[in-house]
Amino acid sequence: MLMEGKVAVVTGGGGMLGSAIGHRLAREGATVALLDVALDKVRNTAEGIGREGGLAVAFHCDVTNTQDVRGVMEGIQRQYGKIDALVNNAGIMPHRDHSVLEMDEAVWHQIYDINVHGLALCLKFGLPHMPDGSAVLNMSSFVAFMGSSNPQEAYGASKGAIIALTRSLAVQCGPRNIRVNALCPGPILTPHVEGFFPTEEAKAIRLSRIPLGRFGRPEDVASAALFFVSDQSSWITGQALLLDGGISVNYF
Ligand SMILES: NC(=O)c1ccc[n+]([C@@H]2O[C@H](COP(=O)([O-])OP(=O)(O)OC[C@H]3O[C@@H](n4cnc5c(N)ncnc54)[C@H](O)[C@@H]3O)[C@@H](O)[C@H]2O)c1
Repeated sequence: MLMEGKVAVVTGGGGMLGSAIGHRLAREGATVALLDVALDKVRNTAEGIGREGGLAVAFHCDVTNTQDVRGVMEGIQRQYGKIDALVNNAGIMPHRDHSVLEMDEAVWHQIYDINVHGLALCLKFGLPHMPDGSAVLNMSSFVAFMGSSNPQEAYGASKGAIIALTRSLAVQCGPRNIRVNALCPGPILTPHVEGFFPTEEAKAIRLSRIPLGRFGRPEDVASAALFFVSDQSSWITGQALLLDGGISVNYF
């Protein structure tokens, strides 16, 4: 088992990808602390992991709230002694995000607050508890690399900021032997993403752009997350992996 004896923190652990990552890390032997602003959702994930025989604990935590983040990270340190893997996965992608030319400032502030500031707070209060050999994984997106005729520009810009932060922190954390990487998933067919396709035709058009011929699954992301937080990637840091069925290399 790749995560035996390790303590993993997954933010947004009540969501589709956070839940899949939590399950996967627990199956590999990790004790998983799941953080989410939606306590009912994150409890469901923890209970599901428990039913499978894994070890998971749910915490209410709004990643934009300094007291919440500091309190939960310190609590995990007191309870488990360390954080070996910090998966900064909490994020939002509101349907109301369009072109910067029609900027809704409230949407920009909300997206940046959660996706960038919230992630930075988790790093600020999580990293002090991370030992030599530990790993951070930040959830970016393929939209950080690609433009779209249906723009989601605040979201895309926030995910680009995550890559910049990942690279900078990889350099800062290298001397402590803490690796910092980012995952950039393409379209994973979660209920929220389905909402971006108003018709079956719209969905089929997106699908036709994916060389591997299918949308991603949460398990695809969980496998890559396991790779990045385990010793399997022991000499990889500062990278942003596109995990997208090939959509980003498809010149259409
Ligand atoms: N689904 C995709 O196709 C896709 C593709 C690329 C990247 N991503 C990224 O992956 C991550 C997870 O996406 P998902 O599809 O599982 O979404 P999701 O909505 O299912 O899960 C996100 C979780 O984050 C939580 N959250 C939101 N605001 C929070 C806050 N302030 N504090 C703590 N938790 C908060 C939500 O309650 C939710 O449980 C996001 O960062 C998203 O941008 C998703």
